Amino acid sequence: MIKVGLLGGNGLVGQTYQQLIDKHRDFELCFIPSREDLGDVLKAKGCDLIFSALPSSVAQIYDPLYAQAGYPVFSSASCHRMREDIPLIIPEINPEDFAWIERQQKNRGWKGFIVAKPNCTLQSMILPLFPLHKRFGLRGISVTYLQARSGAGKDFKLEDNILPFIEGEEEKSMMETHKILGDSSIQISSQCMRVPVPHGHLAVVSASFKEKPSLEEVKAIWDQYEPVSYLEEEDRPQPALDLGDGMVVSIGRLSGCPLMDIRFVSLSHNLVRGAAGGGLLTAEYWSKNVRTSAAV
Ligand SMILES: NC(=O)c1ccc[n+]([C@@H]2O[C@H](COP(=O)([O-])OP(=O)(O)OC[C@H]3O[C@@H](n4cnc5c(N)ncnc54)[C@H](OP(=O)(O)O)[C@@H]3O)[C@@H](O)[C@H]2O)c1
Repeated sequence: MIKVGLLGGNGLVGQTYQQLIDKHRDFELCFIPSREDLGDVLKAKGCDLIFSALPSSVAQIYDPLYAQAGYPVFSSASCHRMREDIPLIIPEINPEDFAWIERQQKNRGWKGFIVAKPNCTLQSMILPLFPLHKRFGLRGISVTYLQARSGAGKDFKLEDNILPFIEGEEEKSMMETHKILGDSSIQISSQCMRVPVPHGHLAVVSASFKEKPSLEEVKAIWDQYEPVSYLEEEDRPQPALDLGDGMVVSIGRLSGCPLMDIRFVSLSHNLVRGAAGGGLLTAEYWSKNVRTSAAV
């Protein structure tokens, strides 16, 4: 069993980690510090790795303490994501970026390291587009994200309204997409709205490519790509119906776009694929494929 610690274990992401770890074959939760004990790194003794579900302002203080003390830290906080020596990983897309860990340890003199999880919203868009990008070469993306209430943390309330602004979110969703795809030449226009839905971020996407794909080619590629599932019904995906186990991105409404090449709607669970489930998948990948060659 891989023994794990969890920072921020009582928040929405932290609670989702607890539920998923409880059911996980390989991970066992052995350390959840209170706010007061966060800085007491010695209490994490015996843990093989740490998941951090702290707010950014707090994670930027505590995550490095654990990395310095020798722990692999898989963090959901945004403060690390754009650091040039911190890998920002979606295992199905850019696992080769785990190789940056060595440079990070050298740069910072750490025995452990930090790996960042991307922003929860972009995963609904990037997983459907990634296999198309590999085949046809993305040129541009125009995306509007309809983001669930729970994306804003446990104390956020929103009823009968839409907020057309989420601070920093549009910038993050564009910059992080470039970093994950390793290609900043892709033109991206992103808008983020908070909507009164409990869970599930929906992306309304148009995209253009260097080589224009047919709709049949797009569907055939999605059919073979495990992280996504295409729904033929014209009124799907819906957050109330299509979040499934939280890890699959549901796609629907594929059509030609009068302005770009294709358009579609896609949905992912912000707390699972977008946070705790994605964090577990990243740690699983590291543990199975990278750990043996890493210094930790
Ligand atoms: N919500 C999402 O869909 C989502 C998705 C991806 C990434 N994220 C990121 O994941 C992290 C956690 O988000 P969340 O939605 O779970 O937030 P949350 O529900 O507000 O939970 C935050 C957690 O951090 C702890 N905390 C807050 N302020 C603290 C402080 N000053 N000192 C020590 N501990 C403190 C809280 O402890 P108490 O329980 O004691 O208050 C709680 O356990 C954030 O960085 C967020 O950006 C969130």
